Amino acid sequence: MPALGSLREGTMPRTHATPVLSHLLREQANAVQLYLQYKGYHWNVAGPLFRELHLLFDEHAATVFGTIDALAERQRMLGAPAAYTLEELRSASTLPAEGTLPGSTREMLARLLAAHRTIIEGMHAGFKAADVEGDPGTADLFARFVQSHQKMEWFLRELASEPPVVAEEQSRSAYVGEKATYGSTIPTSHGTPSFPGHPMTS
Ligand SMILES: [Fe+2]
Repeated sequence: MPALGSLREGTMPRTHATPVLSHLLREQANAVQLYLQYKGYHWNVAGPLFRELHLLFDEHAATVFGTIDALAERQRMLGAPAAYTLEELRSASTLPAEGTLPGSTREMLARLLAAHRTIIEGMHAGFKAADVEGDPGTADLFARFVQSHQKMEWFLRELASEPPVVAEEQSRSAYVGEKATYGSTIPTSHGTPSFPGHPMTS
């Protein structure tokens, strides 16, 4: 019977020498954190939109969860070990730590939108790095997953009735009523399209 080899035998260190591996690790870590964030909001959301947001957050959590395995296993395919401890994932994540529970559903949407935009930006960078390195498998993975994040970002943006970036000044007088209802302002996106917002109808 052949002897079992060391788990680390033949694998490159987890410092992730190539840019592609660093992008995969970061997005694996971001996905784990965003999954937990979504579940936390799913459990703790309250208010008139409870049912809609409770269900939407769980749906998005499942979508994000579905990306974690492929991001980790892609690193194994490329010869690196896959991270799994909370400490390692936390240090690899580029999403801000969740210090306290958001004080409103508006704030929940704002934090989730920011997280998706960070991930979308990261996946664009990962796609480019994979393309440069001649790695179509990783490029395809990022290309597919970024579409999921763009769709989730779109749903949240519509729910939040985020104002358009360019036309905000012109529409401020018409929009201020909605803004006053929800309190804080949701940060505008970087490099993602924005559309005229419309109020929630609940
Ligand atoms: Fe649940």
